[in-house]
Amino acid sequence: MQRDRWPTRLTFLFAAVTSAIGLGAVWRFPYLTYKYGGGAFLLPYLIALVVAGIPLLILEFALGQKLQKGAVDALASIKRKFSFIGWWALFIGFIVISYYSVVMGWSIIYFFTSIGTQWGDDPKAYFFNNILHLSDSINNIEGITDVVFIALVAGWIGVYFSVWKGTKSVSKVVNFTTPFALVLFLIMLVRAVTLKGSMEGLIYYLKPNFSALLDAEVWIAAFSQIFFQLSVGFGVMIAYASFNDRKEDISKNAVVVGVATVIFSILAGFIIFGTLGFMASSQNVPIEEVVASGPGLAFVVFPKALSLMPFASFFSMLFFLILVTIAYDSAFSLVEAIDTVIVEKTKMKREAIALIVCIFGLLSGIIFTTNAGLYFLDVIDHFINSYSLVAVGILECIAVGWVFGAEKLRAYVNKVSDIKIGRWWDYAIKYFVPIVLTIIVAIQLTKEFKAPYENYPQWAIWLGWISVVVPFAIAFLIPQKNIQKKNIEL
Ligand code: PFF
Repeated sequence: MQRDRWPTRLTFLFAAVTSAIGLGAVWRFPYLTYKYGGGAFLLPYLIALVVAGIPLLILEFALGQKLQKGAVDALASIKRKFSFIGWWALFIGFIVISYYSVVMGWSIIYFFTSIGTQWGDDPKAYFFNNILHLSDSINNIEGITDVVFIALVAGWIGVYFSVWKGTKSVSKVVNFTTPFALVLFLIMLVRAVTLKGSMEGLIYYLKPNFSALLDAEVWIAAFSQIFFQLSVGFGVMIAYASFNDRKEDISKNAVVVGVATVIFSILAGFIIFGTLGFMASSQNVPIEEVVASGPGLAFVVFPKALSLMPFASFFSMLFFLILVTIAYDSAFSLVEAIDTVIVEKTKMKREAIALIVCIFGLLSGIIFTTNAGLYFLDVIDHFINSYSLVAVGILECIAVGWVFGAEKLRAYVNKVSDIKIGRWWDYAIKYFVPIVLTIIVAIQLTKEFKAPYENYPQWAIWLGWISVVVPFAIAFLIPQKNIQKKNIEL
């Protein structure tokens, strides 16, 4: 059977870049920058990009493209038992998408409630009480919040129709959403930096505090952020690259995806902090008082700031449309990674596989639509990002660096790429990245045992560990048949 193909190189780049650019860029990056030393955070962030992010992107692109397979069979081609690394990556992706789609659902709701900025003067109460109906602790699940559930269903319908025909439908979607989101983003950027008071916000954002670099936590934050953002360790980039011709350039593509993501994130910070500067100045309060992170930033502070702007409804809709669009492209990339593997493993039709994956994704997202949904989201996100994702990164490095041979894969990369990569890449994959990632896990673990994460009750912490261990165990137990290895040499 002919393998699916991207119609053009640009389409592949659009798909990979839009998978990478998502809530991580708009929701998380600006806050991390502020929290971890302002402009000085850019240093560990950029170092993480160069020494770990781009090398791993090269690894995943090369693996998918050389072997022309999704994550499971690509890793199994190296050694049969390594199929578990691929399965684990997919399970992690599945868990991430189950809550990521809920945040996308919130953004959909906010897109509509932007008309007339319905959060009024108290966006905090609006978000937590009117939209989430948040209970007072993770112990009180109470029930499902209808509007969040409906938005979630809507989001999943969108995701289904993007992936149901594989690269054919994904291509159509990304060829439209990439330029579309870019235009919206630029309008928002110009608006934000020309607001009165925006300058103070930007200074606040970028003023470097170099002493922050002495703190290990800052480096951990930078590395995990780069990982999450570049969508490595989820099988997505392997699947996407497997639809390229085997002669497609690899290192240039990896640099384009990595650099585009980082530039976008830094500019997203301009939008966020420019707008916060405006809000602080129009309310006459210091910026410290208005900064927040995560859901608080995008769904409480930002709506408030937006409602102070001229043409508030318009710019609110614009902002949430950007959020929906970028979240959506990232969301379906995760589904596509899973579909790709199941298509290779079964004789079922792609449309049917996509439907089943989407329905399961929707069902497993229900817990995050309950009144305690935000707490569950926080716990699961923490455990998956701190442990599972990093572990898959380490395992991929070992599989490729030590078993397949970093030199061998690099020889392939250099054969097809304009930018030739040197021996440094072998060292990065064999030693540097796995060692850094191991240190990150070790430091996180000691913190975990000192105090329960965010003081959640013990059962919730157990749930977090279950979300790490059970997918790993299942992945390990899935049998792998011998696969043809003829593709392993180019
Ligand atoms: N990279 C996305 C973001 O930064 O929001 C999130 C993501 C998408 C992670 C796809 C993993 C993935 F496979």
